[in-house]
Amino acid sequence: MRKKIIAANWKMNMTQAESARFVESFLRDLGEITDVEVVIVPPFTAIAKVIEALGRAQNIKVGAQNMYWEKSGAFTGEISAALLRDLFVHYVVLGHSERRTLFGETDEIVNPKVHAAHEATLHPIVCIGETLEQRDKGNVEKILSIQLRGSLAGLKPKELQETVIAYEPVWAIGTGRNATPEQAQEAHAFVRKTLREMADDATAERVRIQYGGSVKPENARELMSQPDIDGALVGGASLDPRSFVQIVKAARER
Ligand code: PGA
Repeated sequence: MRKKIIAANWKMNMTQAESARFVESFLRDLGEITDVEVVIVPPFTAIAKVIEALGRAQNIKVGAQNMYWEKSGAFTGEISAALLRDLFVHYVVLGHSERRTLFGETDEIVNPKVHAAHEATLHPIVCIGETLEQRDKGNVEKILSIQLRGSLAGLKPKELQETVIAYEPVWAIGTGRNATPEQAQEAHAFVRKTLREMADDATAERVRIQYGGSVKPENARELMSQPDIDGALVGGASLDPRSFVQIVKAARER
């Protein structure tokens, strides 16, 4: 049984004070939760504050939104896996579509980052997804296959099992227009089939695949009741602690 994983991708939002207020309110409304894993992914500047505010809250981890693959050195403006581990960060989002489209990240850039994350025992959340044009041309599977095989090339089965994949159709990110549960399930099933081909059945069964793209309290339950949807990567709706709590709670109800 795969434990559902819900991540809050705050993107370039939330000051330290706002982050602390969010965590306080979130913990109060969430109560004890052990059957769903929650990941908060603040901007770098608020990571330490979020960790401090979480205290010993169970089953809530912290992630980063990006990193560079080198261990250390003259790379102005970059941050390494080791520096993130130093802050007790557990997850790192890699290859988000905003990084791909706005900052020129390709699978060739994402792949060494994924390897560097595993070497430092950080768990990558690797984002893949097609644009509307690619979907309209009937190329969803082709694009997902290329991104998966490129971003995850050379990973051992154990590393693959510790990798989270986020299927985020680009046309659904920040648009208010989510994939239907059927569209999402179809893509997730294809991702799992590809993982089976890349590794083996047992590995593919263990990998958690999140859906991302306009997840809200109103659509979370139906999306996450699909057999191959193991959680959500939430942008906009994760900035409000009340709506994020509702999404986490939706993941508990099967
Ligand atoms: P959204 O963003 O929930 O605002 O669509 C999702 C994401 O970019 O991860």
